[in-house]
Amino acid sequence: MYLPPVQFLLANMGYTWTALLLFTFLFNKGIANDCAPYRVENVLVACVCNATYCDGIPENRPEVPKIGRSHWYQSNRDGLRLKWSEVNFNENNQDFSADVTLEIDDVNKYQKIFGFGGAFSGATGFHIASLSSATQEQLMRTYYHPKTGSRYTLGRIPIGSSDFSLRHYTYDDTPNDVQLNNFALTHDDERYKIPFAKRAHSINPDTKFFGAAWTAPEWMKTDNGGLSFLKQEYYQTYANYLMKFLDSYAKHDIRMWALSTGNEPSAAEIFKNSDVTMGWTPETMANWIANNLGPTLTSSRSHDTKIMIFDDDKTTLSEFAKPILRHENSERYVAGIGVHWYKDDESPPTKYTLSKIHNDYPQKFILMTEASNGPPVWNTPNVTTESWLRGEKYFLSILEYMKHWSIGWVDWNLALDQTGGPNLVNLHSDAAIIVNKEKDEFYKQPMYYAIKHFSRFIPRDSQRISITETSTVRATAFLTPLKETVVVLYNKANTTQRVVLHDLRRGNMQVELSPQSMNTFKYK
Ligand SMILES: *[C@@H]1O[C@H](CO)[C@@H](O)[C@H](O)[C@H]1NC(C)=O
Ligand SMILES: *[C@@H]1O[C@H](CO)[C@@H](O)[C@H](O)[C@H]1NC(C)=O
Ligand SMILES: *[C@@H]1O[C@H](CO)[C@@H](O)[C@H](O)[C@H]1NC(C)=O
Repeated sequence: MYLPPVQFLLANMGYTWTALLLFTFLFNKGIANDCAPYRVENVLVACVCNATYCDGIPENRPEVPKIGRSHWYQSNRDGLRLKWSEVNFNENNQDFSADVTLEIDDVNKYQKIFGFGGAFSGATGFHIASLSSATQEQLMRTYYHPKTGSRYTLGRIPIGSSDFSLRHYTYDDTPNDVQLNNFALTHDDERYKIPFAKRAHSINPDTKFFGAAWTAPEWMKTDNGGLSFLKQEYYQTYANYLMKFLDSYAKHDIRMWALSTGNEPSAAEIFKNSDVTMGWTPETMANWIANNLGPTLTSSRSHDTKIMIFDDDKTTLSEFAKPILRHENSERYVAGIGVHWYKDDESPPTKYTLSKIHNDYPQKFILMTEASNGPPVWNTPNVTTESWLRGEKYFLSILEYMKHWSIGWVDWNLALDQTGGPNLVNLHSDAAIIVNKEKDEFYKQPMYYAIKHFSRFIPRDSQRISITETSTVRATAFLTPLKETVVVLYNKANTTQRVVLHDLRRGNMQVELSPQSMNTFKYK
């Protein structure tokens, strides 16, 4: 093993080095890396990270306090970012007149949480790669590190190009190459996706990946004025193509936990752009899964990859998913349903959409696989009001998906630049992290903290439990595998809310939630 000179020197410093480490540990005990503020007109719009500095939760802070106390992490519109404090149970102040009492009860348990994460798009990798390697490392750690970062455990990987790519490509653009002899990953994969996915996995080995193709190669498709479908004669060829993608990424040690049946089939009719879309009807997809994708994937002994259908906006969820799940020979290959957050106003993640499909098909998992706020507001006057509102929108969305059976929540591009691009069809959008290549730094917007309020504190296999809520104080709660309770609250009001958290096992906790605040409590 090659040791660079500095590490070699340190490794030989023996006791001195140990003493130095101990000193650093004691000195840093309890001290958080605070947000390095980026203010516009006195409003905190982001926290700045660079090669040597990034805010995070200290490695040495215990996960939970002693019995009878709770950790409390707060972010708010006024400028707090995951501010840590502790609060006691059963210190019942008689003068505390509660606005709201919330009851937590872990008798009923709901879905198990699988995780949170974001997407390794070409645009994301391109921007991360433009930073110095030390800043790249800070960015990957601030998302994937299990203690100091957001503890992300999921990564979505586009199969070929997506709209957030530098160019259009698939892995076999040689017309009529039915044997897929020319199948090959591209330098976009090798430079912009694989290195960062691998890095995420080494920072957090619990990380699981899933792949989604925006389209099959052009030659496999019909094209009717931009509206394209897979030609039936290539149903098996396309299944083989996806298997080759699984093989090729596995050669780079990236194994796919799941494979989507394709990003947003409904976008084919909306955008009529066959470069970035491919349509399916539920019936054609059911046949393809039943006769091609399902049997091909199951008979492969090298992959233990699940099939996730839909991967689209919830407006067409029921009409699309039901024919596939009612079709016996396709249903048995389907493990779960991916849903996107767009058009939540038309079809929110409520009892009529997600809970309904969960009740009809309780064996199939539901996972929110793509979310983003569109056009970026960075560098516009709107950033002072919009950046917090976008964080709030993420936070409240995650909360609703959790309450309606989603096993996780996956952001779209992990990072973009100040223009919110590049995007091949000019649909620039915002991202939780904005990269500034010239200054070799990046900006963590409120959206980043919104996700972290959940992802950092709700490890895989936590189970949702019951908590009451009001229209002002929104709430969800979980029991972790180590039997710790995590309560996540949003105060929507622009006034302080006095809340009593009444845990049926632990007693009462009195807290004052600041206006428009994200709050996570964790106790044992
Ligand atoms: C990195 O950020 C820290 C904290 O804000 C700052 O003190 C330092 O000067 C920055 N380094 C560079 C190279 O900008
Ligand atoms: C700011 O927001 C307003 C209202 O939402 C919108 O009309 C306008 O285009 C936005 N301006 C910029 C520069 O983003
Ligand atoms: C605060 O809430 C009040 C009452 O709901 C509302 O009238 C007011 O516009 C709000 N102020 C801000 C700054 O949002």
